[in-house]
Amino acid sequence: MAYNVLMVADPGIDDSFAIMYALLNPKINLVGIVSGYGNTPKEKSIKNTAYLLNLGGRVDIPIIAGTAGPLSGELVQYYPEIHGKEGLGPIRPPDTIKDAKVYDINKILEIVSQYKNNIVIVSVGRLTELALMFILYGNNALKDVSAFYIMGGAFLVPGNISAEAEANFYVDPIAANMVMEKAHNIYLHPLNITNNALITPDVIRFLGENSPTPFKPLLVPAFDYYFKAYQKNVPGIKGAPLHDVVPLMALSEPDLVKYIPRRVRVEEFGEAKGKSIADFRPKPDKEPPESLDYIGVEADYQKFTVNFMEIFMRGKGS
Ligand code: BDR
Ligand code: CA
Repeated sequence: MAYNVLMVADPGIDDSFAIMYALLNPKINLVGIVSGYGNTPKEKSIKNTAYLLNLGGRVDIPIIAGTAGPLSGELVQYYPEIHGKEGLGPIRPPDTIKDAKVYDINKILEIVSQYKNNIVIVSVGRLTELALMFILYGNNALKDVSAFYIMGGAFLVPGNISAEAEANFYVDPIAANMVMEKAHNIYLHPLNITNNALITPDVIRFLGENSPTPFKPLLVPAFDYYFKAYQKNVPGIKGAPLHDVVPLMALSEPDLVKYIPRRVRVEEFGEAKGKSIADFRPKPDKEPPESLDYIGVEADYQKFTVNFMEIFMRGKGS
């Protein structure tokens, strides 16, 4: 049986790999994609999502418009040097894509109630949209979601956007803290594991030549752009971390990631804005069980590569 998954994303190159992975993985039934600001402005993120769904022959999957900026009202900075001007590296989705039907945020509730207690939210962008659900509809807004698989945070390692913080938490720390506090059954995939979920250029070259999927022409150009940025930022790095693929693979391959239960908080303001905090002492302070989140602390990176290749070689249904 496949997991019903509602994604929240900001494509973005690693988000795009995550969307393609979800579309191709027979253990995942993608039931909607919320596309908001983050790596690119919201309009581009929606356009990229529509393009990928179009290529994959899945225009039946609803696209939901996300937010345009963080709850604090701050102006957003984008990252064309990592994700490209359009969010897909050198690739420009055709203009025809702009006609795709896009739902408003209320569609999230509709989808959650349609798949009541049998739906996982996989969030690989800023946390603003999920926080907004709690603000608009109260603390029980997402009670019928079975689990939240989230890419965000960094524990006991440096951040990637500031010395202390990971990008998804940093850009809207108020939302990240609210989601950590109000959502239940959170499985967090932070930088301390996703930094090592590297895909190497030779793997992508192989897939670029042999993948039987409709995404084949995108793989090399999108990856190369993203990898070049990582080579600049992390000299000597052997591949590019596909952060956003990790929570999806962790859902479909339950032995991929090991978690420990801790309460997670996010610093909302100041020098350490966006920093994720948890008590890693051997004897942590006791917290109420309902406040615990599952933090990813170890992952099987060999399995990450093998499963990634299998999915892009196999395509859905085969
Ligand atoms: C996260 O931030 C974004 O730039 C990536 O898409 C990923 O979701 C990594 O910190
Ligand atoms: Ca992302």
